[in-house]
Amino acid sequence: MPHPLASDAMDDVARSAYDTLGDLANGYPANHFALQQVLNVLQEHGARRLLEVGVGQGNAIPVLASAGIEMSGMDIKDELVAVSRERIQEYGRPADAVCWGDIGDATTYPSLRRKADFDALLALGILPHAQQELATLQNMRALLRPGGTAFVECRNALFSLFTFNRYSADFILDSLLFDAPAEARDAVREFLEPRLRMDLPPASVGHATYHNPLEVPALFRAAGFTDIVIRPFHYHVAPPVLEGQLGEVFRDGSLALENEPSGWRGLFLCSAFLVQATRPTQEVPA
Ligand SMILES: C[S@@+](CC[C@H](N)C(=O)[O-])C[C@H]1O[C@@H](n2cnc3c(N)ncnc32)[C@H](O)[C@@H]1O
Repeated sequence: MPHPLASDAMDDVARSAYDTLGDLANGYPANHFALQQVLNVLQEHGARRLLEVGVGQGNAIPVLASAGIEMSGMDIKDELVAVSRERIQEYGRPADAVCWGDIGDATTYPSLRRKADFDALLALGILPHAQQELATLQNMRALLRPGGTAFVECRNALFSLFTFNRYSADFILDSLLFDAPAEARDAVREFLEPRLRMDLPPASVGHATYHNPLEVPALFRAAGFTDIVIRPFHYHVAPPVLEGQLGEVFRDGSLALENEPSGWRGLFLCSAFLVQATRPTQEVPA
């Protein structure tokens, strides 16, 4: 029985991996749509060995390992390294396939650096919190074999135009109109504030960096990557403020968009995207 969220558009490998996801009735399976895209590319490239940076509790391990990917992991939290070590052994991998390390500091994972032969690298929830994003991306690139591919999750700054909350005001004033005359900015602020949910999201929401998918390729190129592809995921069929009002219509409508990504709409309707980026086979010395 295929997983109810598995789409006909998926290839067999992705679908069988997806069937291992179990009950996803609670919560939105955003990361699983990201993994579905990763799996399709891995299969296209014939990739086998993948390192997940920020492996956490190893939630991606069952999905990727069931599709035949040889998984390794790294995390900055000892307790999560321990959990993922347990989990990875269930898929025939040794416990030391998961190690401790800080991707911001390449001296902390010498054994991985010595190998640096991964076909692919996955990083979910790392770049939005990285202190030094260029160094973090350079460290990721160095762990790939030449020709290997990284998949790095970013929070989508353009989604702010669809949230109709204080993030929309910030994006319009600080990113679109940052150099406009003060009088124009003040007029726009006055126009926007009564029309937007300026109380949302609550101040308690932690800080993360949002990236503009139209600009982020330059950052990845500066870190030495090439062949950059933006892959939006986590669609919203309506602004998040309407989720409670719409209930199942919100969830089902969003899932339907996810299964049939149109390309450009994801740049505005998705709260996140993966950057797919390749370590060049021939690197130009810095
Ligand atoms: C948002 S969680 C994602 C966990 C897992 N990948 C998942 O999708 O369920 C981010 C993970 O990255 C780890 N992490 C954060 N900063 C890191 C760093 N500099 N180096 C390695 N791991 C890091 C955290 O401990 C956490 O487990």
